[in-house]
Amino acid sequence: MSRAGAMAEKVLVTGGAGYIGSHTVLELLEAGYTPVVIDNFHNAIRGEGSMPESLRRVQELTGRSVEFEEMDILDQAALQCLFKKIMRVHGVKNLVFSSSATVYGKPQYLPLDESHPTGSCTNPYGKSKFFIEEMIQDLCQADKTWNAVLLRYFNPIGAHASGHIGEDPQGIPNNLMPYVSQVAIGRREALNVFGNDYDTEDGTGIRDYIHVVDLAKGHIAALRKLKEQCGCRIYNLGTGTGYSVLQMVQAMEKASGKKIPYKVVARREGDVAACYANPSLALEELGWTAALGLDRMCEDLWRWQKQNPSGFSSQA
Ligand code: UD1
Repeated sequence: MSRAGAMAEKVLVTGGAGYIGSHTVLELLEAGYTPVVIDNFHNAIRGEGSMPESLRRVQELTGRSVEFEEMDILDQAALQCLFKKIMRVHGVKNLVFSSSATVYGKPQYLPLDESHPTGSCTNPYGKSKFFIEEMIQDLCQADKTWNAVLLRYFNPIGAHASGHIGEDPQGIPNNLMPYVSQVAIGRREALNVFGNDYDTEDGTGIRDYIHVVDLAKGHIAALRKLKEQCGCRIYNLGTGTGYSVLQMVQAMEKASGKKIPYKVVARREGDVAACYANPSLALEELGWTAALGLDRMCEDLWRWQKQNPSGFSSQA
């Protein structure tokens, strides 16, 4: 959410202590915005004082301070108070929504463009993203003073080039690359490859992996778009290139110099064979395109993993 003004523009970032959030807060600071972050520490580690460790490091990296408030966006009273304080008072009617390529469900064609049908999602997470997309679109339709950019993320991986912030999932990672990097560092024995009988070149699932810093920069481009009173716009944030699970394992072996053992197990329910973006609309209308390739994604992921073998927690 952003507010026009002569001073540094304030942007409220929900979940800003997390993986994508912290990288986006860093890019916002570097682009001259003033982010105000709320987070409930669901997937974040506490640092000194009341600050999440990820944002403490963002402050260190940028030399700027971050406004942070611990809050659960399900806490209606607290949220209403914040909205009164920040949104209505300042007349905020601009939103950037973090959506997901998962709203497309099982692809009917590839690459996925923004007009591909949405809604037949295979998991509740995807369904919730779909519902919120619908609500925001209705809102913008009904009240033309609202503007929104819905960003459909593909698969963000990698970390900030400094290696100081990165992805730190709690417990056993669900997603491929955090798992792969924990195998590389020796925290886990072997990767389970969820099926090698898909209709793809090597039989394993294909996804559009995008560097998290590219993804974060996509939000800056979206904020610029809101300035045009754009109404509701939807953009894929992906690279347009798909890689298989085994290609990702290979790329990470190259970046880390470590052997990454894996075993093939059954397919995971709800997984699709292949999913990758047509990212051309974001280039045309936002002037945004992914700049960092697979090698950089894996090198940066490895640097983060090596420097922080147990993530943001200090114990080894
Ligand atoms: C998953 C979520 C999706 C969410 C996205 C966020 C499911 C079914 N989908 O998507 O809702 O938007 O993360 O990034 O949970 N793989 C393995 N072994 C593993 C982990 C993954 O082989 O231990 C494979 C998967 O089968 C898939 C690929 O790696 O082919 C990528 O998996 P993942 O990182 O979980 O992302 P998505 O499946 O795209």
